[in-house]
Amino acid sequence: MNIAIIGAGNMGGATALGLAGALPEARITVTAKHAATLEKYAARGLQTSLDNAAAVRGADVVILGVKPWLVQGVLQELLPELGGKVFVSFAAGIPASDLAAWLAGSGAAGIYTVIPNLAIEVGQSMSFIHEVAGTPGTLSCVQSLFDAVGQTAVVDERRLHAGMMLASCGTAFALRYVRASAEGGVELGLYPQEAIAAALQTVKGAAALLEARGTHPEQEIDRVTTPGGITIRGLNAMEEAGFTAAVIAGLKGGRKA
Ligand SMILES: NC(=O)c1ccc[n+]([C@@H]2O[C@H](COP(=O)([O-])OP(=O)(O)OC[C@H]3O[C@@H](n4cnc5c(N)ncnc54)[C@H](OP(=O)(O)O)[C@@H]3O)[C@@H](O)[C@H]2O)c1
Repeated sequence: MNIAIIGAGNMGGATALGLAGALPEARITVTAKHAATLEKYAARGLQTSLDNAAAVRGADVVILGVKPWLVQGVLQELLPELGGKVFVSFAAGIPASDLAAWLAGSGAAGIYTVIPNLAIEVGQSMSFIHEVAGTPGTLSCVQSLFDAVGQTAVVDERRLHAGMMLASCGTAFALRYVRASAEGGVELGLYPQEAIAAALQTVKGAAALLEARGTHPEQEIDRVTTPGGITIRGLNAMEEAGFTAAVIAGLKGGRKA
């Protein structure tokens, strides 16, 4: 499969590296605005180009990874080359109706918005997929591509925003938890690297436990909270400081409703 990634920045670049690791047989071409951006991808054996239209010409799947405000302009360059191809936009916040209108007449076989997260680079993304328009086989093509680098969920447009907040912005939120844990660990006497390693392994272990047992988080919490013990005292102190409310406020992007 030939994949063109237009805009090899944080997300496009992470996707290129993740797909290159997961699908060694795929031919992946990445483009960017500046030649310097492409150097690290060329060094990793990917095809690189500053010519978006040329990169798209030989592709089966085209992934657009530029900032949302650049999408409409860059699409003008790509439009004549998109016939019969599967088109994926990473741009957050662009309504499906706008994307469909901008791609009208392109002849693309399928049009999708996909919101992955940065862990796509290591094959551990949680990617939300919304089908703007499709033809037989295009949704399964997109799904299998992103399944190769993590997990996917196919959602309607309304749930795409929620998915993005939880899983894409959520990467930053999870990392803040890790940072906070590590800072607390240092205050308690661990060395910084020990504290980060312990926080990471604890989060990974908690996630693995829930996945393996299929339980609700609170069921596992009940198993580690001795009545009158330090875990429940710690949890209650975190709630008193607004932990759950802070996480939900973050997921709502600071909005009240
Ligand atoms: N970051 C995330 O966690 C995340 C998550 C989900 C979705 N997204 C979406 O992904 C998209 C990209 O976000 P990002 O954070 O990866 O942005 P970014 O790091 O700024 O990357 C954008 C890339 O686009 C390139 N570019 C700009 N103009 C171009 C053009 N005319 N032709 C080809 N390439 C061009 C830039 O090249 P240069 O580097 O050479 O300037 C840059 O590498 C956005 O639409 C965002 O909503 C991001």
